[in-house]
Amino acid sequence: MEIIIQPTPEAACRYVAGRIASLLSAKPAAVLGLATGSTPVGVYRELIQLHQRGEADFSHAAAFNLDEYLGLAPEHPASYHHFMQENLFQHVNFNPGRTFIPSGQASDVSAACADYEAKIRAYNGIDLQLLGIGGDGHIGFNEPSSSLSSRTRLKTLTPRTREDNARFFSSPEEVPHHVLTMGVGTIMEAREIFLLAFGQGKADAIAASVEGPVTANVPASVLQFHPTAKIVIDEAAASRL
Ligand code: GLP
Repeated sequence: MEIIIQPTPEAACRYVAGRIASLLSAKPAAVLGLATGSTPVGVYRELIQLHQRGEADFSHAAAFNLDEYLGLAPEHPASYHHFMQENLFQHVNFNPGRTFIPSGQASDVSAACADYEAKIRAYNGIDLQLLGIGGDGHIGFNEPSSSLSSRTRLKTLTPRTREDNARFFSSPEEVPHHVLTMGVGTIMEAREIFLLAFGQGKADAIAASVEGPVTANVPASVLQFHPTAKIVIDEAAASRL
């Protein structure tokens, strides 16, 4: 685990976007693992600019997103399908047939999760996984107590995560209770991982993940076992290290 402290969130996002662009030029058919939440938006903004300058070509790449809310249609403004369209996909040249997000509308959820895993395997795994972190140390929607070897599956959100994500919905009651998420085991198989976190509000989760024991109660702590995981944070998120 490598800790990279950048002076500002903007600098951190520029650094990670640069790493993604380098991967794409070395391996045009790279498989990216993408994340939602407010943290990676700056990375997507940088990638869009790199693309506009001809420095990032997504035409041969593939993308797998971490998670989606169960019950939300892709058009729902708070769905992660919608988020990805708005913040990245519609602005760059991904082949839409090569971008994947778990379906919030699957009638057979466990079959949909098994298919998602099979598709990641069919693409020969994820080259570079982007992650944010929840205030409780969750990654994707793997809430505390998630098995560290879990695969893509249905999860129930904790009251804290529902509250944290309520800002994306018109009312707190609207936040779904259930989600589909890649598992911790799925995430750990990515060949390279960049976890981003900014601000004081993430300082405790970062300290627990980086310096605490590896425990299912802080899912991001498992990244201590990942051979190339990089934790890219600003000064405020690093303040409890
Ligand atoms: C959600 C997402 C996570 C994300 C987290 C933190 O729970 N499923 O992938 O890391 O929110 O979001 P933010 O970056 O907005 O703090």
